[in-house]
Amino acid sequence: MALAASSVPNDLEPYWMPFTANRAFKKRPRLIVGAKDMHYIASDGRKLIDGAAGLWCTNAGHNREPIVAAIQREAATLDYAPAFQFSHPKAFELASRIAALAPGDLDHVFFCNSGSEAVDTALKIALAYHNVRGNASRVRLIGRERGYHGVGFGGIAVGGIVNNRKQFGALFAGVDHLPTTYNREKQAFSIGEPEWGAHLADELDRLVALHDASTIAAVIVEPVAASTGVLAPPKGYLERLRAICDKHGILLIFDEVITGYGRLGYAFAAERYGVIPDMITFAKGITSGAVPMGGVLVRKGIYDAFMKGPEHVIELFHGYTYSAHPLACAAGLAALDLYRAEGLFERARKLETPWAKAAMGLKGLPNILDIRPVGLTVGIDLASKPDAVGKRGMEALELGFFEHDVMFRAVGDTLALSPPLIVSESQIGEIFDKLANIIKAVA
Ligand SMILES: Cc1ncc(COP(=O)(O)O)c(C=O)c1O
Repeated sequence: MALAASSVPNDLEPYWMPFTANRAFKKRPRLIVGAKDMHYIASDGRKLIDGAAGLWCTNAGHNREPIVAAIQREAATLDYAPAFQFSHPKAFELASRIAALAPGDLDHVFFCNSGSEAVDTALKIALAYHNVRGNASRVRLIGRERGYHGVGFGGIAVGGIVNNRKQFGALFAGVDHLPTTYNREKQAFSIGEPEWGAHLADELDRLVALHDASTIAAVIVEPVAASTGVLAPPKGYLERLRAICDKHGILLIFDEVITGYGRLGYAFAAERYGVIPDMITFAKGITSGAVPMGGVLVRKGIYDAFMKGPEHVIELFHGYTYSAHPLACAAGLAALDLYRAEGLFERARKLETPWAKAAMGLKGLPNILDIRPVGLTVGIDLASKPDAVGKRGMEALELGFFEHDVMFRAVGDTLALSPPLIVSESQIGEIFDKLANIIKAVA
């Protein structure tokens, strides 16, 4: 493949790429040099349709003019304001806008710069909350198998992906895991939330019996576990988890880094499922991916528990130099305006049915073990090659990039799609037509 000389770096070696097979990539790089709306431009000038919203984040589409202009204006007006002991108006404005979108009394926002930081922030707030209320024995954290909560030490400890954990030592003491909600035998080819599996929430009661509620601070789950293959919650599961947490005074955290900002047709999955957690972590879609930003939405009672004691004293010893960075706040406000002006969350809700229909059209192609559409996303499990788990998925990704002009995620042999919410019905057809050809080609 001929690469345009001007777009290709001289030396690919110094950059150690994250979550990437570096040596294979550097032999045959997949370089992107531009983007607009639903498309990426590769370094050889080809236009590729984006079936993954970048990395589950560019929900408003790429390089949208209002977001670009807001970032440019802010960069020329206020490059940086100290996050500790000073602030700037857009930080407060954005927190208010996010709180207004959130259900119930989730009305305070702590800002950070990524999903991983949001998760570690939420876990720390949970521990500190019990501490300030005199329940210092509540230190255990509970995650779930097949959960992804980023790459901080807290996040990998509560996360349930063996490869993300096994090289990094003992992690953190006092963490336990609920079982995954996915069972192919019981759930294969379910559209949306599967019928089977609500009872798996009761495993939390078993962990309470094992450890005692007085030692458990919080449970963290993704409402839809996206990174490990788009696993929607069984019908009734999240309600049951909420009820068990309430019974035992355990905080419930929804990690909405992917499900937030429209992916499931609502501002937050909490709204789709009618379940209000105690905290919501978010990132990605808040700025439509244009500037790094993350945050934690916190219920009023949690915030209020900290607002005690002498007023000159810092209430929570936590924060980041770039918490509520002016460029991120400007991008966030512009993204929220665009989501509202174009009705993109409602659009995702309306497109859910044609999206699922198009995805299920792949059923019957070679090696397909399961297809799981929910909201504007889908996980497609391909059978692994006998000699190498993950190889077929990677071949599909490469074929998509180099020959079929479509981008999506490959997680092992599972293909995951989550287009920008501006996708049209004909583009949905185009994405799945390309995917059908790719799946046949890697048979
Ligand atoms: C549910 C969830 N939590 C946390 C993260 C980590 O986000 P980041 O990569 O911004 O640190 C991700 C990233 O995909 C995620 O899906």
